Amino acid sequence: MKFFIDSADVAEIKEAASMGLLDGVTTNPSLVAKTGRPFKEVLLEICDIVRGPVSAEVIGTTHDDMVAEAREYAALNDNIVVKLPLTPEGLKATRTVSREGIQTNVTLCFSAPQALLAAKAGATYISPFVGRLDDVSDDGMNVVADIVEIYRTYEFPTQVLVASVRHPMHVLEAAKLGADVSTCPLKVLLQLAKHPLTDAGLEKFLEDWKQVPK
Ligand code: G3P
Repeated sequence: MKFFIDSADVAEIKEAASMGLLDGVTTNPSLVAKTGRPFKEVLLEICDIVRGPVSAEVIGTTHDDMVAEAREYAALNDNIVVKLPLTPEGLKATRTVSREGIQTNVTLCFSAPQALLAAKAGATYISPFVGRLDDVSDDGMNVVADIVEIYRTYEFPTQVLVASVRHPMHVLEAAKLGADVSTCPLKVLLQLAKHPLTDAGLEKFLEDWKQVPK
């Protein structure tokens, strides 16, 4: 399973990259807005830090606007993956730009039938938002399970990128289901390494080591 960081904060991205486990980055308009910086400037800086896929989301809502933005972002760096919303216009734009060889991440996916359409449109990645589904008393991981099953059945090459990850259990479940990628906030990436028994065990080892004759 690949790990992406879901952030546009350069300091956070550098910290995650220093762990040596980072395969890519996903951003969205809300995450970019939090940085208070111009989008393209942030995007290029991220591409210099992480040599892997970096998702950049379009703002247009029509096919033509989305395609124009997709071409512009894709021309900035070979690692840029254009993020398009799962709307009828977004699917049309996905089809157009994927035929041109532009990598795409179809976002705001909340159901398996939506994911089926994204795969048929030629998406490189599909992003089911598990946390936001859980927030409305749905089961985000059920949707991921359905998508993985459908993609396997029809051998779609579209990769399942589990998004809106809120805690380590989302990552565990995604891995058990065979999802290709989990994109996580820095907090969750750090939580993955944490266990109280590891901390307590290390403390005890270091304490006992003091008894070893020097
Ligand atoms: O990048 C899309 C997704 O990961 C957003 O997550 O926590 O805002 O639902 P969240």
